[in-house]
Amino acid sequence: MCNTKTVLSIIVARATNGTIGQGGKLPWHLPSDLARFKRITTGHPVVMGRATWESLPEAFQPLPERTNIVLTRQAGYQAEGAIVVPSFADACIAAMGTHGAEEVFIIGGGEIYREAMLLAQRIYLTLVHAQISGDTFFPTVPPESWAIRSIEPSKHWDPRDTHVTSFQMRERIMLP
Ligand SMILES: NC(=O)c1ccc[n+]([C@@H]2O[C@H](COP(=O)([O-])OP(=O)(O)OC[C@H]3O[C@@H](n4cnc5c(N)ncnc54)[C@H](OP(=O)(O)O)[C@@H]3O)[C@@H](O)[C@H]2O)c1
Repeated sequence: MCNTKTVLSIIVARATNGTIGQGGKLPWHLPSDLARFKRITTGHPVVMGRATWESLPEAFQPLPERTNIVLTRQAGYQAEGAIVVPSFADACIAAMGTHGAEEVFIIGGGEIYREAMLLAQRIYLTLVHAQISGDTFFPTVPPESWAIRSIEPSKHWDPRDTHVTSFQMRERIMLP
């Protein structure tokens, strides 16, 4: 999507049945996954939909130590501390030249992920081992198109986590 030197990566936590959100929020409390999200994305540009931006707690608007880029079709939308753009192409332009732009992270939510699945090369996937009701979903990642590069069982478990998780990093299989 951006240029040949940039890896476009999705980072998402997904329940067994595909749920990623409910009522504009995350339907779980997973400090271990928030820590992993921070570790992976810090120092890189993060791209998110307007709804996900609005779901961030005030203290994390913007997410610190990351260039925050917010997608919206609303002219004149204000997101203090973030760059507001009207398209993925403009998100790329905004990310280029910023710190850590060799890897750009798509951080949600459902609408943005659906569009980014066609563009991304890498997925950092936290599997939440539960069926959870919700209103926002992430698709199944087809194994024939996305090779597993690493798997991590829930070794970084936090006693405050509401669910068991595991973690996969996958890369798109490029046809020769
Ligand atoms: N589990 C996870 O890892 C995870 C991660 C992030 C978010 N979430 C959850 O996901 C939910 C939010 O997801 P969502 O699908 O409702 O909303 P979203 O994807 O965060 O944002 C959707 C908005 O983005 C803008 N947009 C979408 N495509 C665009 C494009 N091509 N160009 C410009 N603007 C575009 C539009 O904003 P306008 O309407 O302003 O035009 C649209 O309404 C929340 O429940 C949140 O907690 C979960």
